[in-house]
Amino acid sequence: MSEKLRVAVAGCGGISAAWLKPACARTDIEIVALVDLRREAAEKRAAEYQLGKALIATDLKDALKRTTPEVLFNCTLPEAHTPTTLAALKRGCHVLCEKPLADTMSNARKMLAAAKAAGRTLAIMQNRRFDANIARARAFIESGALGAITTVHSQFFIGAHFGGFRDRMAHVLILDMAIHTFDAARFLMGANPRTVYAHEWNPAGSWYDRDASAVAVFEMTGGSVYTYQGSWCSEGHNTKWESSWRIIGTKGTLLWDGGTGFAAETVAKTGGFRSEMTPSAVPEFAPGPRQGGHAGLLNDFIECLKTGRTPETAAADNIHSLAMVHGAIRSAAAGRKVKITLPEG
Ligand SMILES: NC(=O)c1ccc[n+]([C@@H]2O[C@H](COP(=O)([O-])OP(=O)(O)OC[C@H]3O[C@@H](n4cnc5c(N)ncnc54)[C@H](O)[C@@H]3O)[C@@H](O)[C@H]2O)c1
Repeated sequence: MSEKLRVAVAGCGGISAAWLKPACARTDIEIVALVDLRREAAEKRAAEYQLGKALIATDLKDALKRTTPEVLFNCTLPEAHTPTTLAALKRGCHVLCEKPLADTMSNARKMLAAAKAAGRTLAIMQNRRFDANIARARAFIESGALGAITTVHSQFFIGAHFGGFRDRMAHVLILDMAIHTFDAARFLMGANPRTVYAHEWNPAGSWYDRDASAVAVFEMTGGSVYTYQGSWCSEGHNTKWESSWRIIGTKGTLLWDGGTGFAAETVAKTGGFRSEMTPSAVPEFAPGPRQGGHAGLLNDFIECLKTGRTPETAAADNIHSLAMVHGAIRSAAAGRKVKITLPEG
């Protein structure tokens, strides 16, 4: 690896700012190329981040050949994730790619196989894992205070008037948003999906064309159950983007509002009709490198490349979260419970 890590960025739209800010704050990274089908988008980012030396390009393959980066930051749209990632892996790059890993399971498998064959790291920007609040929830679960986790319920309700492509998109809630919530459920439960029964619908008065609301019940490995209720077309009493959570274990329950609101009760005494419960403090999570969403995950990815550690959101693991998304869509279409076959490798 060269003294400064040579990084190309593909896709210079909205989310690329969340990548370029932490990337440009590091002294061990050099952005050698900014690529976008819309040249003006790449030029805009170059001006904003004083990247005058970076190649501005519209063709990724050509830019990779000319600038020989070691890493691709992939901020393109979901349907472009597969061809752009495959092109970069072919050139020997490690890739950190925006969520979702891919638009289909078969494309996701192709990307995994290509990374394995190239011996390169492919990981996903599942930034909510690097939020300090979810780290706090997980640390509390891992402390054993709740006993074994049996059941997790999440609710996501936001009346989001985006306008644009989402208003027309099929499976808009599950495809574009629930990947975050499903991945958070796996992270909190330490379990993978086995089956799902899901229903999608468009509520009366919806400003979306279709599929703005969904419910899903997942059977997880180890016999636990995770349920999802969500809507992007729900006016009033909105939840946080991180969803609100009820996490039930054999010894108690944690309520987490998705932000800094935590309330836990654990069993103090059994024997009566209801057990006697006692409030249980949820310790603050010690500040550390995990904090900071996009910045935290990007910095961790770089450290992984330097040390050889496998990133937590490596595609080989993240594909389980994607399988929840595509399993839920399959179930809703079939109107019945479906198996989620765990991806190999
Ligand atoms: N992690 C998060 O919280 C989060 C938030 C928003 C968006 N995203 C994800 O980030 C990705 C980009 O979203 P966005 O909001 O920035 O979209 P955007 O439309 O603002 O930007 C995407 C850019 O990619 C460019 N592009 C598309 N195909 C390309 C290709 N083959 N080569 C080069 N450039 C290409 C487009 O021209 C566009 O400028 C999506 O996968 C989205 O799901 C993640």
